Amino acid sequence: MRRLCFLFVLLAGLVAAPLSAAPIVIKFSHVVAENTPKGQMANKFKELIDQRLAGKVVVEVYPNSQLFGDNKVLQAMLLGDVQMAAPALSKFESFTRSLQLFDLPFLFKDMAAVERFQKSEAGQKLLNSMKKKGLTGLGYIHNGMKQLSSSNAIRVPADAAGQKFRIMTSDVLAAQFKAVKATPLKKPFSEVFTLLQTKAIDGQENTWSNIFSKKFFEVQPYITESNHGLLDYMVVTSTEFWMDLPDDLRGEVKKALDEAITFGNQVAAQKGVDDRQKIIDSGRSKVITLSAEERAQWVEVMKPVWKEFEHEIGKDLIDAAYNSNNM
Ligand code: SIN
Repeated sequence: MRRLCFLFVLLAGLVAAPLSAAPIVIKFSHVVAENTPKGQMANKFKELIDQRLAGKVVVEVYPNSQLFGDNKVLQAMLLGDVQMAAPALSKFESFTRSLQLFDLPFLFKDMAAVERFQKSEAGQKLLNSMKKKGLTGLGYIHNGMKQLSSSNAIRVPADAAGQKFRIMTSDVLAAQFKAVKATPLKKPFSEVFTLLQTKAIDGQENTWSNIFSKKFFEVQPYITESNHGLLDYMVVTSTEFWMDLPDDLRGEVKKALDEAITFGNQVAAQKGVDDRQKIIDSGRSKVITLSAEERAQWVEVMKPVWKEFEHEIGKDLIDAAYNSNNM
């Protein structure tokens, strides 16, 4: 009888085994510090998943290019080595040309216009622009407008001529700097501080939170408050991984991600103000504000870049994005 009981317990254990299957692991890789809009968003996503899907899904966040830099992460995603990332919209060029839209200089007048466009039908459609290449966009997350930092004081386009600027991997950004007769260099984010510190380059463009959290302001005596372009992100996953998730879990994961993005966007808005002030208070970097006339010079010199890329991006898409300024 005891032997029969033992066999019964053993069989019951075997039948129950699939119920305690290992949780699905979502490795979320990014390149920025944890105390940034994207870093906070990723941590919030992990927190929500831990609360709601404990034992079923586990999120592992890898900040500061610990797992992959932005130049490798998308290939790694297609190979199944990482499940989520949120590269800057400038870094998808080899997967789609449409997202180059977001790099056009002076396209959006403020973040409210960016938000309106991203929520519009045209903006939402872009989330699927890499589906055929195996990537699905799950949402946008803001960082903010970019500023120009340099080892020299820059007020007008002529001041930037002849200088070397680090850019993200985007031909539009390259054209933008060539338009002011500067030299653009495509380099990974993880190398920017050293390039600036060793004076291998003169400057770079980035948001207040990245300039602050990566200490660029400590090695760049001038920051021109140009607000000339956008740095936002797309949270992406591999289409295969996403579609393989059980329907109910996929819904829960998406809900948690949407909430984390809303939180990250609040952080972005606040950091745009706070980190700017911290940089000013540090006294390490002088913030140059432009007069309307100086700003108009930048617009005039950089705006022809729109025409240059119109055939790749599409005039309708550019018009839709531009019109979001006037709603
Ligand atoms: C990021 O914010 O993810 C990095 C931006 C950059 O490469 O400059």
